[in-house]
Amino acid sequence: MVDTERPEPLSGSGDPPRDLLLDVKDLSVEFDTGHGPLRAVDGISLQIRTGERLGIVGESGSGKSVAARAVMGLLPRTARTTGQIDFAGTELLGLDPNQRRTLLGADVSMVFQDPMTALNPVVRVGRQISEGLRFHGSNDRQAVREATLEMMRRVGIPDAEARLRAYPFEMSGGMRQRICIAAALICGPRLLIADEPTTALDVTIQRQILDVLTDMGRGGMSMLLITHNLGVAASRTDRVAVMYSGRVVETAPTADLFRTPRHPYTVGLMRSMPRLADAPHTRLVAIPGRQVRSAGPTQGCRFADRCASAQPKCLRIEPDLTTDDSSPDHAYACFFPRGTAHGEAALASNRAAGTTAAGLSVPEEEVSS
Ligand SMILES: Nc1ncnc2c1ncn2[C@@H]1O[C@H](COP(=O)(O)OP(=O)(O)O)[C@@H](O)[C@H]1O
Ligand SMILES: [Mg+2]
Repeated sequence: MVDTERPEPLSGSGDPPRDLLLDVKDLSVEFDTGHGPLRAVDGISLQIRTGERLGIVGESGSGKSVAARAVMGLLPRTARTTGQIDFAGTELLGLDPNQRRTLLGADVSMVFQDPMTALNPVVRVGRQISEGLRFHGSNDRQAVREATLEMMRRVGIPDAEARLRAYPFEMSGGMRQRICIAAALICGPRLLIADEPTTALDVTIQRQILDVLTDMGRGGMSMLLITHNLGVAASRTDRVAVMYSGRVVETAPTADLFRTPRHPYTVGLMRSMPRLADAPHTRLVAIPGRQVRSAGPTQGCRFADRCASAQPKCLRIEPDLTTDDSSPDHAYACFFPRGTAHGEAALASNRAAGTTAAGLSVPEEEVSS
C-alpha cells in the first residue's frame, strides 16, 4: 500500500529558501569483498537546501543507505570514501569520526528502518530520548526532563510521563519509531536523515510517522528521506533523486519527476508500484531482470540489460546526468529518455524488432505511455 497524497508545500509560502545546507559532490564508497572491490556508491552528487526535503528512491541494493551513512560518518572502517561532503560550509570527508561528531554536533541526526535495533533494550526510553541533550552538555535534570516530555508529546506519544520509564519492548513498533524520532530531534537538528523510517510499520502507523516528520519539517528542518516507496516520495518530498546501481540516474523536483519521468528505470519503478489512486485492475509491470553489482569496471549504461529502450550506444557508453531545454532542474542519465522524440523512437524500434540491443525481449503489448 502506498501513500499518494499530493505534495504539501512546507510553511505554505512558495519556494523553500535557496541556501545550501548539504552539498555532496562526486561521492564514491568502495568496499572490499571476496570478489574484489565493490563500488556501492559511484560518483553521486546531492544537494539539500535549508528546509528542503530530498527523497532518495531506488530498489534494494542501489546504494541509498551507504550514501546516507557516508554523510553521517557511520560506515565501517574498511569502506573507502572519496569525494566531497560539505555541510553548512564545512568539509566533512577526511575528518576523523570524533572530529566529525563534534563538528556536526546536534546539527545532523538519523532515524533508521528498524527502531528495535536502533534502541538499547535495557535502557528506559526517556533516557534514550534525552541522551543527545546530555551528550551535548545539558546538566539541568529538570530541564532535560521537561524537554524530553515536550518532545514525546510532539511526536505523538500519549501518557508521556508514564512512558518515560518504560523499556522499548513494552511498546509497539510505531511507538518505538516515535521514540527514535524524538531522540533524533531533541537537539533540534538542521538536517534529519531518515532511512526507510516507516518500512517496518503498517500503513496507518506509517502515515502517522510521516505526518510527524512533515510537521517537524515545517520548522525549517531539512530532511533526506530514503524510501523504496515512490508514493511516500511523491507526497513527502520536494525533490527526488533516483538511484540505480550506485549512481543517481535521475533527479528533479518531485512534481516534475512524477509528471515527466525520463529515465526508463524511473518509468519502470513507477509502473511496478501499486498506487491507491490507480483503477482497481491496473496491471503492475515488474522491471525485468535484477540489479547486478559487478566488482570490476562496468561498460555502458548499468540499466541497459533491463531496459526496453536500449540501443547499441547504451552498451558502449555510460550516460552522464544531463538536462534538456524543457527543465534545467530535471537531470537524467539516459541517451534515449522517455517522452522525447528519439527516446520514444528507440523504444518503438525495439518493440517492432521484439528485442533490444542487449537481447532483452520486448513484448509488443507491454508498456504504453
Ligand atoms: N559494510 C558493507 N560491506 C560490503 N558491502 C556492503 C556493505 N554495506 C553495503 N554493502 C553493499 O553495498 C550495496 C548498496 O547497499 P545499500 O546502500 O545498503 O543499498 P540500499 O540501501 O539502496 O538498499 C549493496 O550491494 C550492499 O551489499
Ligand atoms: Mg537501505
